[in-house]
Amino acid sequence: MAIERTLAIIKPNGVEKNVVGEIISRIESKGLRIVGARFVQLSREKAEGFYIEHKDKTFFQGLVHFMTGYPIFLLCLEGENAVFLWREIMGPTDPSKAAPGTIRKDFGDNIEANAVHGSDSLKSAEREVAYFFDKSQLYNRF
Ligand code: CDP
Ligand code: MG
Repeated sequence: MAIERTLAIIKPNGVEKNVVGEIISRIESKGLRIVGARFVQLSREKAEGFYIEHKDKTFFQGLVHFMTGYPIFLLCLEGENAVFLWREIMGPTDPSKAAPGTIRKDFGDNIEANAVHGSDSLKSAEREVAYFFDKSQLYNRF
């Protein structure tokens, strides 16, 4: 299987709950490697650009408000099948539908404040990683 990179975000409610380390520990225990990481507080423009695919959804303005209200923790993850594997570790969008042991079940508050983000395909992973990280900010193992 191919080595992939994907974007993970610990959202404002995850950071506020002080579970950054717990989430990183789950990531590493599944064999994914952190190759980039930092805190940031998003501007409205940066958040809108990140979620541009959702700009016509009813939840868009609320989502942007939520994502800009408190710092977030950005991670670039690397490993075999990283895009799918990270989605699996997170669980589905709605925490109330997520299985026990997934991050969204354990730390998500509701469908908006669902604790974490993960790229949904290799194509979006490439865009999303580049949206937040310069090449020089990523650890290159190969
Ligand atoms: O994050 P994921 O790819 O699982 O879901 P999405 O459909 O791409 O939606 C992006 C984000 O919008 C979600 O993670 C939620 O934070 C938010 N959202 C929401 O507030 N209300 C919804 N009905 C659906 C998504
Ligand atoms: Mg998505």
